[in-house]
Amino acid sequence: MPITTARACANIALVKYWGKRPGPLNLPAAGSLSLTLAALVTTTQVAFDPALAADELVLDGRPGRPGELARTTELLDLVRAEARLAARARVVSRNEFPTASGLASSASGFAALALAAADAAGLALSPRALSILARRGSGSAARSVFGGFVRMHAGLHAGHGDDAFAEPLGSPLTDRVRMVIAIVGGGAPKAHGSRSAMTHTAETSPLYRAWIELVPRDLAAAEAALAAGDLEQLGAIAEANALAMHASAIAARPAVIYWQPATLTALAEVRALRAAGRAAWATIDAGPHVKVLTTEADAPAVAGVGDVLISAAGGPAAVVERGRGA
Ligand code: PMV
Repeated sequence: MPITTARACANIALVKYWGKRPGPLNLPAAGSLSLTLAALVTTTQVAFDPALAADELVLDGRPGRPGELARTTELLDLVRAEARLAARARVVSRNEFPTASGLASSASGFAALALAAADAAGLALSPRALSILARRGSGSAARSVFGGFVRMHAGLHAGHGDDAFAEPLGSPLTDRVRMVIAIVGGGAPKAHGSRSAMTHTAETSPLYRAWIELVPRDLAAAEAALAAGDLEQLGAIAEANALAMHASAIAARPAVIYWQPATLTALAEVRALRAAGRAAWATIDAGPHVKVLTTEADAPAVAGVGDVLISAAGGPAAVVERGRGA
């Protein structure tokens, strides 16, 4: 059987995905927009093997936990159904992330898994079909199929999910931007997984409806800023959008609070840097870390002396090796 190794970069959303539509297809309630990051890469090898009784997962050198294995099998089942394949698979995945950064990424993980599994199963999927497949593993993974700035479509029309895919957005900003990632809280595991937390926000937050109504406006403005090469405008939207997402989560009952005191300290530093004339806009995901959108020129000043990682825009998910098993 063929063995395929694929790689995919993580991405950070500038207009966030926070909310799903009901149903099994993992459909987002709104679109989103992200930047794929070269410095955060997952490499995944998939080998289908008729001799295996069950799927196997090795993640960063240790056996996958039951929940991780179950989500891997769910995605492999979709590939097996489409390829009319019965064999179970051996999956070996490695995150080339800074050690213990706490930036565990379902986005790069499921994008690399979808590509490696589809390729090993002999499916020649278009990038769009691959994005739809990766979405089933994790909403943000649909965006990691592509490089640079990426737009995810909510696909509100078809209902079967075939219009909920991502596509790349060219911009004069792609080569100029950098993301500075400040590791806050020493990489402790996050308190609320994004899946259950966004469902809980949708069900209980009095601010959720306002959040969902805001997203299309922020997307349109961010796309216009990208097309015009207007980093100030893009950054302002990104920071405001992230704060609005967290406001909706904080207002859930009980509250979903990802921030730690150091998160607010970093946020204040970013705003001070900006007031001092630097290109610096903050965004925060389902964890305490602060990510700063900046330029190549300002990245060293933004990075300061803290525990940070600087990343340029990354490329699309790609097959890196094909071989044959026994
Ligand atoms: O796709 P998930 O389940 O990893 O959710 C991603 C949620 C956020 O990172 C907070 C926002 C985003 O758009 O990436």
